[in-house]
Amino acid sequence: MKKIRIVITDTNVDYLQSLASFIRNEGGNNQFLVTYFSKEETLSSYLKQGEMVDILLVSSEISIPRIQRDMFVILLEDDLLKVKNTSMPSVYRYQRLDQLVSNILGLYYEKNEEAGRLLQRNNQTKIFSFYSPNGGVGKTTTAVNFSKQLALNDAKVFYLNLETFNTTKLFLSDDNENPSLQIFYYAKTASGQLLSKIEKLRRHDPHAMVDFFDIEINAQELLELSGNEIERIVNGLLETDAYDYIILDLDSSIHERNLMAMKESDTIFWILANDSFGPLKTKSFLEEEEKFFGRENVMKDKMSLIINKFNGNLLNDFDELELPIDGYLPFIPNWTHPQSRAELLGNDLFNQEIQSIIRKVILTNQEGGVLNSGF
Ligand SMILES: Nc1ncnc2c1ncn2[C@@H]1O[C@H](COP(=O)(O)OP(=O)(O)OP(=O)(O)O)[C@@H](O)[C@H]1O
Ligand SMILES: [Mg+2]
Repeated sequence: MKKIRIVITDTNVDYLQSLASFIRNEGGNNQFLVTYFSKEETLSSYLKQGEMVDILLVSSEISIPRIQRDMFVILLEDDLLKVKNTSMPSVYRYQRLDQLVSNILGLYYEKNEEAGRLLQRNNQTKIFSFYSPNGGVGKTTTAVNFSKQLALNDAKVFYLNLETFNTTKLFLSDDNENPSLQIFYYAKTASGQLLSKIEKLRRHDPHAMVDFFDIEINAQELLELSGNEIERIVNGLLETDAYDYIILDLDSSIHERNLMAMKESDTIFWILANDSFGPLKTKSFLEEEEKFFGRENVMKDKMSLIINKFNGNLLNDFDELELPIDGYLPFIPNWTHPQSRAELLGNDLFNQEIQSIIRKVILTNQEGGVLNSGF
């Protein structure tokens, strides 16, 4: 991946050092090479040496030396009004550092559409979708808990809810009040701005340690999303090169956005309840697979069957599917009443089983990958 060389120049030394160390250690996911100066003269002589700079972030009281051709200058402003009114690219100093870094990246990608394309698709990122032909079996509950458990294993995770009626806010929140409006709109316009919008609109839940879009429910918009648009959003998320896992939470319809999401996925966690409905619908789905995907037997290989709300005695109906069952998530009686986010994401019994699915499905696949590449 191409690193972005950022030079920060600010006379406020404490701020400068904490920002530089934040970007180096946490912000920007290792995307930046950071250099910083507290004096105009040292910046000048650095630039005169002909050092390459992609972004110069400079506080507005410092006069900007003769600019290198490809250098993109962003002003660091103390005054929010100035940020809003100036035609120069600028960011407000007194905001959370992770947001500040996102804004910088957003401006940079906006200016330099090519930059996004330069960041190669990261083959390490795995895409998991959570699907079931049955409604209400716990796809969302499982997908969000799974995201959090991956994050607890030090993975960077993006959770994308694609339900017709979005329920993300029951599980995840961010103290940034602004919803991630327009993300689907930008996916439609096919403009080079998508990457920049992803940077600006993504939110982070500090408890689950998961990134997500805070989307208002707009069923019509979801129904109008095409497969291509889903592909574009997923590619945009991959291009940020910030994630180990992208989790796609689907609903039970066979809308083209869900089919494309499944097509794009490395693994489809196929969630069923312990009843006769799930196996019957799954069988029908697999029988019609060729109509949906143009080919047969593409799904089975990447399906990981999970029984949710499990109470101990598996029905025989599952035998016919001839699919191994990778996990049995327990029925949690408390969840039949309204629960807080912490309770929906903090059930030890449920999460122990999720951790064992992670070990079984992901770690086994990784071993397989290593073995295959050895031959
Ligand atoms: N293991 C479980 N034990 C008890 N209740 C559960 C369990 N998993 C999910 N539920 C409950 O089942 C209901 C539906 O869950 P959820 O919304 O996650 O299902 P879904 O499959 O995503 O639904 P939809 O098809 O609408 O997207 C919720 O009330 C949830 O709390
Ligand atoms: Mg759901």
